[in-house]
Amino acid sequence: MINQLNQQLERVDDLKSGDICTEFIFEQKAILGSGTYGKVYKMKSKFDNQYYAVKCIKKQNEKEGFPITSLREIKFLTTLDQENVIKIKQIYTRVKKNKNKIKTIKTYCAMDLMANDFWKLLAKNEEQKFYFTTNQIRSILYQCFKGLQYIHSQNIIHRDIKSANILVNEIGVVKIADFGLAKFCPKKEGVKKTPTVVTLGYRAPEVLLTRGQYNFQIDVWSMGCFAVELNFNRPLFKAKDEAQQIQQIFEKCGTPTAETWPEIMKSDYFIKLNPQRYDRKFISSIRNMKKDFDDELLDLLDKIFVLNPNVRLTVEQVLQHPFFKNHNLNLCFEQFQEYLIKRNVNLEKVITLIQKPVQKDIDFII
Ligand SMILES: Nc1ncnc2c1ncn2[C@@H]1O[C@H](COP(=O)(O)OP(=O)(O)O)[C@@H](O)[C@H]1O
Ligand SMILES: [Mg+2]
Repeated sequence: MINQLNQQLERVDDLKSGDICTEFIFEQKAILGSGTYGKVYKMKSKFDNQYYAVKCIKKQNEKEGFPITSLREIKFLTTLDQENVIKIKQIYTRVKKNKNKIKTIKTYCAMDLMANDFWKLLAKNEEQKFYFTTNQIRSILYQCFKGLQYIHSQNIIHRDIKSANILVNEIGVVKIADFGLAKFCPKKEGVKKTPTVVTLGYRAPEVLLTRGQYNFQIDVWSMGCFAVELNFNRPLFKAKDEAQQIQQIFEKCGTPTAETWPEIMKSDYFIKLNPQRYDRKFISSIRNMKKDFDDELLDLLDKIFVLNPNVRLTVEQVLQHPFFKNHNLNLCFEQFQEYLIKRNVNLEKVITLIQKPVQKDIDFII
C-alpha cells in the first residue's frame, strides 16, 4: 500500500503542464461547490463527451509548493477504488505566468459527477418539510458504512465525515468525498496525529478530550452524527466552541466514569475540565425528538454514540447490526431512487441554483 501511494505521489510530482490535456479536454460549465483549497466545477470532457466534477486546486507559486491537504487527497483518491468512495479519474496541471512573470500552477482533478451533497439536499428537504423514510435512510447509511469499511480496510482514517462530504447521484448511489484531512494510519505502527480534526459538530469525544489519541473509531462517531442528521434534516450537535460541544455530548451520552471509560480518567484535559455529571439519556432524547423513531436504528445509534472508542461499534460491527440485516437493500435503493425522481433532484436545476458568474481566468477550454 505504502509503495503504491508513493508511486502515485511521484506521478503527481512528475506531472507537467499539458501532460494529459490532449486526452482530457474540458469545457467549463458551472460551479458545484467551493471549499478551503479550491472550487469544484461541473465540466464536460471533450474527449468522451461526459460530464465530470473537476476540483481545481488554487494557484500555488513554486516557492509555496503544493498544499499538503491537496496532495493527500490526490494520493488517496487515485488509489481508493470502491463504489461508495469518490474516485479521481484524471489529473493534470497547468502552468501560467502572470504579468510579473511569476509562474503559478493549477491542478485539476476530474472525479465522478454527483447530483448533490447531503448538506444541501437536507437543507432543501427541511425547507420543504420533507423527511427521509427509514428505508431510504437504510439505503443511504448502508452505502456510507460500506464506503467507510473499505476506507478503514485500506488503513485510512477519513477525519472529516460530514453531510457536506457525502455525495449522491441521480440514481441513488452514495459516495464519500473530500479526503483533504484523511490520514494513512497503519494499524500496528501508530502515527503522530493532528489533535484538532473533524468539523466541530461531528467531532468524536476522544478528539475533544485527548491530544491526538484517536483512531479509526472517530469516523464511526461522525457517521453516527450524519445518521441522526438524515432523520431530522439538521445536525445533532450545534456548538459554537469545543467546550460547548463536550457539554452537549455529555448531556446526551452521559459524563464518562472510571467504569465506562477508564483511560480518559487519566487525561490531563479531562481532569482539568472537571465536568458536570450527567446520566446517559441518548435513547430518550432521540425519542423526544421523534416518537416513532425506528427501534433498530435507535439501537444501532445507541451503540455508535458510545463515548469510549474501544466500546463503540466498529464499522464491521455496524454492518452486522440487525438494522442492516434481513432487509432487501435493493428495495431500499429503489425507494431512494424513487425519492430522487419524485423530488425532481435534477442535476441541471441544482447547478443553476448555485451557479455564480464565471471568472475570467477560468473561462477557457482546458
Ligand atoms: N464529485 C462531485 N460531484 C458533485 N459535487 C461535488 C463533487 N465533489 C465536490 N462537490 C461539491 O463541492 C463541495 C466541496 O468539495 P470538497 O471535495 O468537499 O472540497 P473542500 O475540501 O473544499 O470541502 C462539496 O461539498 C460538494 O457540494
Ligand atoms: Mg468538503
